[in-house]
Amino acid sequence: MVGPLAIFVASLGVAVLALAFSLKVRRTRQLEAAKASFPPGPKVAVMPILDAWVKYREWGEQYGDLVYFPESNTLITNKAEVAIDLLEKRARIYSDRAMTPVMKLCGGENLLSVECYSEKWRKDRRVFQQTFRQAAVHQFYPSQYNKVHEFLRNLVSAPDNSLDHIQRLSQGLVYKSLYGLEIGPEDDIARKAVSCVEAFARALLSGGFPTYEMFPWLVYLPSWFPGCNFKRIASRCGRVIEEIDTVPFDIAMTNLKNGVCSSPIAELASSRPEDVKEIKAMGTMSFIAASDTTMSSISSFLLAMCMHPEVQAKAQEEIDRVIGRDRLPTFEDRRSLPYVEGVYREVMRLDPPIPLGFPHLSTEDDFYRGYHIPKGCSVVANIWAMNRDPNVYPDPDAFKPERYMNSPNGPFESIDNIYAYGFGRRVCAGRYMADNTVWLAVASVLASFNLGKAKDENGNEIPITGEMTDLFFRHPRPYKSSITPRSHLAEDLVLATVEA
Ligand code: HEM
Repeated sequence: MVGPLAIFVASLGVAVLALAFSLKVRRTRQLEAAKASFPPGPKVAVMPILDAWVKYREWGEQYGDLVYFPESNTLITNKAEVAIDLLEKRARIYSDRAMTPVMKLCGGENLLSVECYSEKWRKDRRVFQQTFRQAAVHQFYPSQYNKVHEFLRNLVSAPDNSLDHIQRLSQGLVYKSLYGLEIGPEDDIARKAVSCVEAFARALLSGGFPTYEMFPWLVYLPSWFPGCNFKRIASRCGRVIEEIDTVPFDIAMTNLKNGVCSSPIAELASSRPEDVKEIKAMGTMSFIAASDTTMSSISSFLLAMCMHPEVQAKAQEEIDRVIGRDRLPTFEDRRSLPYVEGVYREVMRLDPPIPLGFPHLSTEDDFYRGYHIPKGCSVVANIWAMNRDPNVYPDPDAFKPERYMNSPNGPFESIDNIYAYGFGRRVCAGRYMADNTVWLAVASVLASFNLGKAKDENGNEIPITGEMTDLFFRHPRPYKSSITPRSHLAEDLVLATVEA
């Protein structure tokens, strides 16, 4: 039998070994740090803000897979394998976020996407996963059909306002699917939420509040003081978050209580009253994270179809052959439509809504490919550039759904390989829902409409330049297009969805 003394001696031995090991690791790291230099990079006074992803790619071509800026402790990579090595395989140390004072002022500490990597983040993310995990997202199918079909009907009645209709779909879906509410972009709560997203986008960009970033002590001065406007914006943002957290949530709870309708958020809050604060924040976070990104993807898809009629025709031929022309696509059809899947994947590849993702902050010194990546480094994955890497995607700028048919994994490989959704432990928490929404919109539009260039008064086609916005979120700039039902039958099918 093993006596207490033996156990004590053994434990002591283990503790000594562990201590020696950790000292050795620390010593090795110190030696590595002494030997390793930072990755190379250009000297720049101010980082680019507009179309930054293009400049970052140029720097990558000049300096290699890792481009480092010591002044701001920022590392940029244009290579997917580097993002995977660091942000996924070493996720333990690359999952933090930089909570800047501006974001804190704006109330960002309660928003999952900008929260630091902490116990609080873990708890908030768990609440999110429970609702948005792969096995749970079928609960959103009815709302997704409802909102995508409403979108199709709006395209029939007012084809020239496609961007407005996409906005209605992207925003309305969050309220419908989480709270069971019909809220459109014209409603006060949605308008306030949009203004909050704008303030956050500004807070996230370095240079968004230049005076405060240069002189943080300005926070102690009143908001009317010159240069202190940021305080007014931040405090408004905090108040708006409180309101958009509470108003739809309270209506959803009342509806559940009065038997009007149930909703995922009200049911979750009833079963976990101790987590109400996190559940409310999940609703707000979903709106902030979902509306612009979903809108960007669907509008990029419409633009791509206007610019690539040959792709559109092939996808329509597949839909007609596989499901016929007498009904609209459903989620059950997805696996039977490989070319349509390729169309969706090409949209996400060429037009990731957030081309630079969100930076991941490192929490320890690290050594990679002989370089030292210091603790606190902000790692930026240039998703836009990695999706156009010619070594991975031959003829990278071409919109070619065929490339997925010929790839070893086929078109239906895991959505974890869609880099537009980010990387590692901070990967998009709503990606399974987003993936379904965008796919359903893609398949339903292709089944119902012909998209192309609009014509001027002389009958000549108006060229489409395909210009995109250049700041943080990327989406098509307004352009003229022609969107018409494919046939009378297609129009009837779309209009009949009003009963659903
Ligand atoms: C096409 C649509 C979407 C795209 C392209 C997208 C993309 C992204 C990206 C790039 C990130 C940052 C990932 C990283 O840090 O590596 C992110 C984070 C996030 N997304 Fe999405 N997203 C989409 C839709 C949604 C939807 C519908 C929701 C929820 C309803 C959502 C919720 C979130 C949340 C909560 C985070 C923060 C995760 C964290 O920091 O832990 N997203 N998304």
